[in-house]
Amino acid sequence: MRDLTLFAATALLGLAAASPSSSTLGLLNYNGVALGDWESAYDKASAFVGNLTTEQKLALITGSSVTSATNESFSALVFADGDMGLQDFNYVSAFSLASAIAMTWDQDAYYEQAKAVGIEFYKKGIQVLNAPTSQPIGRTPWGGRFGETFGPDPYLNGLATGLAVKGYVDTGVISGAKHFLLYEQETNRTNDPSSIGPNPASGPLPYSSNTDDKTLHETYLWPFYDAVKNGLGAVMCAMTKVNNTLACQNSDLLLKHLKTELGFPGLVYPDTKAQSTETAETVNNGEDYGDSTYWSTSVMKALLANGTLSEARLNDMTIRNVIGYYYSNLDNGLQPAEQGDGAFVDVRGNHSKLIRKYGAQSMALLKNKNNALPLKTVRRMSIFGAHAGATVAGPNQDLSIDGSGPTYQGHLATGSGSGLASFPYLVTPLVPLTVKATEDGTILNWILKDNYTSTAGSSLIPSVSGSTAVSPSYETYAGNSDVCLVFLNALSGEGEDRTELYNADQDKMVNTVADNCNNTIVVINTVGPRLLDQWIEHENVTAVLYGSLLGQESGNSIVDVLYGDVNPSGRLIYSIPKNESDYNVGLCYTSQCNFTEGVYLDYRYFDAHNITTRYPFGHGLSYTSFSYSNLTILKETPRIPASPTGNLTVGGYSDLWDTVNSISVTINNTGSLSGAEIPQLYLSFPSSADQPLRQLRGFERVDLATGEQKTVTFNLRRRDISYWNVVEQQWLVAAGEYKVYVGASSRDFKLHGSFMVRTHV
Ligand SMILES: *[C@@H]1O[C@H](CO)[C@@H](O)[C@H](O)[C@H]1NC(C)=O
Ligand SMILES: *[C@@H]1O[C@H](CO)[C@@H](O)[C@H](O)[C@H]1NC(C)=O
Ligand SMILES: *[C@@H]1O[C@H](CO)[C@@H](O)[C@H](O)[C@H]1NC(C)=O
Ligand SMILES: *[C@@H]1O[C@H](CO)[C@@H](O)[C@H](O)[C@H]1NC(C)=O
Ligand SMILES: *[C@@H]1O[C@H](CO)[C@@H](O)[C@H](O)[C@H]1NC(C)=O
Ligand SMILES: *[C@@H]1O[C@H](CO)[C@@H](O)[C@H](O)[C@H]1NC(C)=O
Ligand SMILES: *[C@@H]1O[C@H](CO)[C@@H](O)[C@H](O)[C@H]1NC(C)=O
Ligand SMILES: *[C@@H]1O[C@H](CO)[C@@H](O)[C@H](O)[C@H]1NC(C)=O
Ligand SMILES: *[C@@H]1O[C@H](CO)[C@@H](O)[C@H](O)[C@H]1NC(C)=O
Ligand SMILES: *[C@@H]1O[C@H](CO)[C@@H](O)[C@H](O)[C@H]1NC(C)=O
Ligand SMILES: *[C@@H]1O[C@H](CO)[C@@H](O)[C@H](O)[C@H]1NC(C)=O
Ligand SMILES: *[C@@H]1O[C@H](CO)[C@@H](O)[C@H](O)[C@H]1NC(C)=O
Repeated sequence: MRDLTLFAATALLGLAAASPSSSTLGLLNYNGVALGDWESAYDKASAFVGNLTTEQKLALITGSSVTSATNESFSALVFADGDMGLQDFNYVSAFSLASAIAMTWDQDAYYEQAKAVGIEFYKKGIQVLNAPTSQPIGRTPWGGRFGETFGPDPYLNGLATGLAVKGYVDTGVISGAKHFLLYEQETNRTNDPSSIGPNPASGPLPYSSNTDDKTLHETYLWPFYDAVKNGLGAVMCAMTKVNNTLACQNSDLLLKHLKTELGFPGLVYPDTKAQSTETAETVNNGEDYGDSTYWSTSVMKALLANGTLSEARLNDMTIRNVIGYYYSNLDNGLQPAEQGDGAFVDVRGNHSKLIRKYGAQSMALLKNKNNALPLKTVRRMSIFGAHAGATVAGPNQDLSIDGSGPTYQGHLATGSGSGLASFPYLVTPLVPLTVKATEDGTILNWILKDNYTSTAGSSLIPSVSGSTAVSPSYETYAGNSDVCLVFLNALSGEGEDRTELYNADQDKMVNTVADNCNNTIVVINTVGPRLLDQWIEHENVTAVLYGSLLGQESGNSIVDVLYGDVNPSGRLIYSIPKNESDYNVGLCYTSQCNFTEGVYLDYRYFDAHNITTRYPFGHGLSYTSFSYSNLTILKETPRIPASPTGNLTVGGYSDLWDTVNSISVTINNTGSLSGAEIPQLYLSFPSSADQPLRQLRGFERVDLATGEQKTVTFNLRRRDISYWNVVEQQWLVAAGEYKVYVGASSRDFKLHGSFMVRTHV
């Protein structure tokens, strides 16, 4: 194995880096990270960089194409958003948001959606996908970008982040995960609230996120380990500060944690305008790719001339800029040329099927009184709410940054800002519901507004009394229906945080409909937690179907579940509490944002304080039922070294990833329909590890026909039973009893057991 030259280590050791000649590139060996399968990419990168002049290296790291003296060319990398599909392009797919795909709790879905997105980027000639969006992790439910990410459980977020990276890389593009790190809200993210930059190096804003070392590791760095382990080639640093230093020039974040502890071999690039004007600070503290406005050849040459920027660091930066390109095999010459955004190059393949399938799989059935769902043949149905139908002016209205929401007057199926997909078309719920009505002979009415008040006059509709003249209103339509479907949404996005977790107009609409219709079914698509307590106990609210934003096939996905073509299996990736005041973390309005809650986000906090939620993390119902049996713990008393013994590799110490115990459980479909269950494994640690009451450490989606049973095995990796020890500065395994809980949510355990870990040096 070869060691990657890490400028990080030279900086940590305080060594004045010598200027190596090109022939010594790759031979520096300070705290070397074993490169593993990055080795050949490193060899190619360093050979190429070795033939570049200083001017060419400076051009390359500021985004220009270069051709070496030996006639090897490197075309400037093209970067684009995002997880939900290629933004601002034609003939591309609009995929569901990360928070939707996360709700499938299906590891195949995490991988397959990323692969489909990656293929579209590859075929359009884009090299770097600004994704996955692991974070904002969702420290606060008011955070505007909550919906763009995999949610506040680091374990689930990490699995999804890692599988997404793998999916992108497997298609031949470079994955550029974001945002690094501790950027958790939009409010005060820049010094200039009306725009997104530029970033001053001094001054009170952007806000500074301040967290302790244990929280940093156990919550926020955790998913980036998964990303790096799975082939991450680029990291986008955030526009905010950490410990009062801008994230893009924060040596603790970029050199100590990312490039050394996690062994990240690729390039760090700034979010839009996240780069500061302090050139020496940025180049020496970890940013590898920068804007030539600040990194001009003349400024950079002056820094080189007086030793502020070493030749070794410039080589390191340049290698990091090209290593991902070689790692993803982009040097094989097979990628199509970059296409203009309007070019008729249709890259969608059959992705609409995948989008529809995973959209349906992501919807969580929260409530289903008397089996109100699935719908059978409906005689009279009414549909309520702006979210059921189309906007007036098409699906591609610009949901730009800085203020969209809190609700959307049309069917909401994508995010805003960097989370905005390009719709080729959008299937609203009204379309497939109309098709069902044509098949079933259903009488269908609708009011596509959240605060409709009846205008004068009457309209001709069949009423229950036999009369045909009824004034359109929520009351009259609801009172003349066997089924009432009420559609709600909640929107926020980049640039502006949420102002509410419920909505007065929508909640009034639900109550008005339910007062008059004894079978009121509520469908919600929301960017983040949406409270239900204004109406959830209404006796006429019989069912609630809840999800995130589902992309171009949204209406089909929803209607597939409503009519039982798909048996729901989505699960909440966060708790839904009863009140806003149940949360411990709001927005920061001060320049210092102290993460005093530590690791206690979402269920970790609600569990610690015995707060009864409306629906717990992991909750979701099915049209069938399941039984759990046969909990088997492979090792009752495993003996494990207290600290890692592996080599420092790409992804941290190699044995963090080793399986140390296995737990299995048998699931039986005891109902009358086929369906999928998501058994979840939660662990309690020995008290010396200082961990929350219980934490998710395994889950698996299992498809079962009626009467079928399957045994599911959860492999616990060393990292899954480790905690961050701030004294040792290491992931340690605590000796003692680990309690095991397996069930259908974080508050619905079917089986439990334990194992006893003994540690040794
Ligand atoms: C430079 O180019 C030559 C000729 O193409 C090649 O053999 C060599 O590996 C390249 N790299 C270095 C570091 O010399
Ligand atoms: C920020 O400072 C605190 C206190 O000194 C320290 O524990 C923590 O590790 C620092 N955070 C980062 C990201 O370095
Ligand atoms: C090196 O040059 C830069 C750019 O001219 C200047 O800002 C910096 O102060 C110089 N540093 C030293 C140590 O001379
Ligand atoms: C109804 O909702 C729309 C969209 O939010 C809003 O513009 C309008 O002011 C509301 N009307 C009333 C009467 O509340
Ligand atoms: C439930 O709906 C029926 C109409 O089907 C209505 O008579 C009743 O008052 C409603 N219940 C409540 C609590 O509003
Ligand atoms: C609603 O009311 C109708 C007529 O009163 C009754 O037949 C039906 O069973 C009720 N539906 C539900 C879901 O309670
Ligand atoms: C943060 O933003 C809020 C709302 O825009 C503003 O009132 C406050 O002054 C800002 N804080 C600082 C430190 O500028
Ligand atoms: C954040 O923590 C620092 C250091 O403990 C303290 O001085 C500051 O007042 C805190 N700020 C807020 C807004 O709590
Ligand atoms: C929560 O409930 C448990 C068990 O009833 C109890 O031991 C614990 O003290 C409670 N914690 C809080 C914060 O009330
Ligand atoms: C119980 O689980 C074990 C695996 O841990 C499996 O081999 C066995 O078949 C299961 N037994 C039943 C009855 O499902
Ligand atoms: C660590 O690296 C050394 C040198 O490459 C190798 O011999 C050894 O097997 C590695 N150890 C582990 C646990 O992978
Ligand atoms: C699964 O449950 C069903 C219904 O309770 C039962 O009939 C069947 O025997 C069970 N299947 C197995 C393989 O145990």
